[in-house]
Amino acid sequence: MEGASNDKQRQLDSYRIARDQGHLTTQQGVRVDGTDDAVKVGDRGPTLLSDFHAREKLTHFDHERIPERVVHARGAGAYGRFRPYAGWLGKFTTARFLADPTVETPVFVRFSTVAGSRGSADTVRDIRGFATKFYTAEGNYDLVGNNVPVFFIQDGIKFPDFVHAVKPEPHNEIPQAASAHDTLWDFVSLQPETLHAIMWLMSDRALPRSYRMMQGFGVHTFRLIDADGQATFVKFHWRPKLGAHSLLWEECQQIAGHDPDFHRRDLWDSIAAGQYPEWELGVQLVPEHREFEFEFDLLDATKLIPEEQIPVRPVGSMVLDRNPDNFFAETEQVAFHTANLVPGIDFTDDPLLQLRNFSYLDTQLIRLGGPNFAQLPINRPVAEVRHHQRDGYGQHTIPQGQAAYTENSLGGGCPALADEGTFRHYPEPLYGAPVRARGAKFHEYYRQPRMFWRSMSGPEADHIVAAFAFELGKLTRPVIRERVVEHLARIDADLAVRVAAELGLAVPDALAPAADGIVSPALSQLSLHGTGIATRKIAVLVADGVDADGLR
Ligand code: HEM
Repeated sequence: MEGASNDKQRQLDSYRIARDQGHLTTQQGVRVDGTDDAVKVGDRGPTLLSDFHAREKLTHFDHERIPERVVHARGAGAYGRFRPYAGWLGKFTTARFLADPTVETPVFVRFSTVAGSRGSADTVRDIRGFATKFYTAEGNYDLVGNNVPVFFIQDGIKFPDFVHAVKPEPHNEIPQAASAHDTLWDFVSLQPETLHAIMWLMSDRALPRSYRMMQGFGVHTFRLIDADGQATFVKFHWRPKLGAHSLLWEECQQIAGHDPDFHRRDLWDSIAAGQYPEWELGVQLVPEHREFEFEFDLLDATKLIPEEQIPVRPVGSMVLDRNPDNFFAETEQVAFHTANLVPGIDFTDDPLLQLRNFSYLDTQLIRLGGPNFAQLPINRPVAEVRHHQRDGYGQHTIPQGQAAYTENSLGGGCPALADEGTFRHYPEPLYGAPVRARGAKFHEYYRQPRMFWRSMSGPEADHIVAAFAFELGKLTRPVIRERVVEHLARIDADLAVRVAAELGLAVPDALAPAADGIVSPALSQLSLHGTGIATRKIAVLVADGVDADGLR
């Protein structure tokens, strides 16, 4: 068998069923004499309801489907293990699995696309999910990340709107692809906070060569908590040992036709062949007293911390070395949740993260059929579980005793409350009245997309321009295209000019990109698709003294 045995694999052993031996039975364990012909009156029917085997077989089949994930429906998973290199992170966190090199922690990782349905193709232009469940001795910790370091929106309340724009349109359920449709680009054109992630989406990063060759990012700023209760801000990074590699857009399209399972097959075959993929976990650490030093807000998930400002320091390495036995039981039923935390790690008030912490448990209650899905083999912690929650669909444990509450004197057990090893929320002081608002720095949208664009090599930049041209070229409403190009002009004049030229929009010869990316007066001469809408708006913005960052 692939992979080393560990606590999680030993736990799973008791659930594994070999189907290549023994007799065929009903769910009740009764041996059956045949399963190809239902029992009938004579050999030409009618079929008798008394054939309980036939009815049970059909009934179970009728109920095989569960709802697919509302996002990230298409995915592939594998087991592995994580081990820290050395103890240096122990200065910043009590989480032993991150800091103690003698501790090897079993993991399950699920990679996914975001927008497509369960049966969609792997090589679409999309963000990829990179979700890791660490089965630690202190309980399950989930790092539910993506393969790009920023997200499209800043506040979780906007997530349903964003996903409705990304998913196939409601009237005709077209298109299946994550991009290239009116609703996505309409949303983008009206919500400039999306632009940074959109630049990544238009880049080669959205076309990974393999799940084994993808970076991963926790995206949000989290907290590490040390033994004295002191906090340090942290961003998590996964770096593939094979390096980050991408496909070309033309390759993606051809592969999607030839082999829609390209990424899941690649992961499966590599592990089956003993070519185990590895990643290095790294952290960017920011002391609490430096929280306000940055030109962006650390709580804004549409911004990254440039590595020139805060380097990524290696922490440990993860290897994936075992394929699941059963896709549904393991990869489909795994339930990741940003609120699955262990002592030594905590949230911040990132408004995207705060509502993620609501959403995952909520959706899994329906997707996985009630409140006991943590008892499913793939979700079971290796840490001991003892509580007074009771009953509910799919209860698989047999708690003993008369009373199911703490404290009690009747029998039912009173699990002791521990002094050590407990999770304690970071005691962040709170102040302020309730407002529907965002911090001031959240309103700046263009600097980091510009930084990203200007860090591209020649071929990478060419691919981005081609991607914008392809995606925007498919829109049925020219006004959306114009609004997007207007935003591109705020990111970088050269980018806007190149995309406009590809789209066949009129671009004056004299137009020179401004060195600092600020919308140049020359750009106000840009006539987009003959409507003059963008021309007018840019002129108004410049006249009003709005700079390229959208800040007055
Ligand atoms: C899956 C909600 C933002 C990464 C999901 C699911 C929901 C959801 C409901 C399906 C979960 C399931 O059925 O088990 C949200 C909300 C967000 C948000 C409300 C914003 C407020 C993000 C961000 C990231 C992310 C910022 C990356 C940092 C993922 C991943 C999965 C996922 C990787 C798939 C997990 C798996 O493989 O099972 N999300 N999400 N999401 N989300 Fe989010």
